[in-house]
Amino acid sequence: MAWYKAADNAEVSTPFLKKVIAGGKSLCLVHADGKLFATSATCPHAGADLSKGRCENGKLICPFHRYQYDLETGRGAPGQNDYVRTYPVEVREDGVYVKVGSWMETLKGVFKG
Ligand code: FES
Repeated sequence: MAWYKAADNAEVSTPFLKKVIAGGKSLCLVHADGKLFATSATCPHAGADLSKGRCENGKLICPFHRYQYDLETGRGAPGQNDYVRTYPVEVREDGVYVKVGSWMETLKGVFKG
């Protein structure tokens, strides 16, 4: 896994929701309620661009059919039976970084202890 710069520090002064490319992945970078989050940018329901959605009460809401995903865990709302992948985010002196790994690294993490 590696950290990739996804935004400038100046951007974290105001709330935002935008698509970024980090580590070859298309991600949704969110600054909401004073916190930063990163999720997959593709909705697992029917493929909508989640960066075109909105945030409300700690949830990322898809612009197509209004499915909701928890920004911390990626879990879908009860009854959806789905989730979006989430990624660690870190603010450094020179920008906002997202930690992205390959699917194999992710798989190893899932089955690790
Ligand atoms: S495509 Fe996102 S809820 Fe349907």
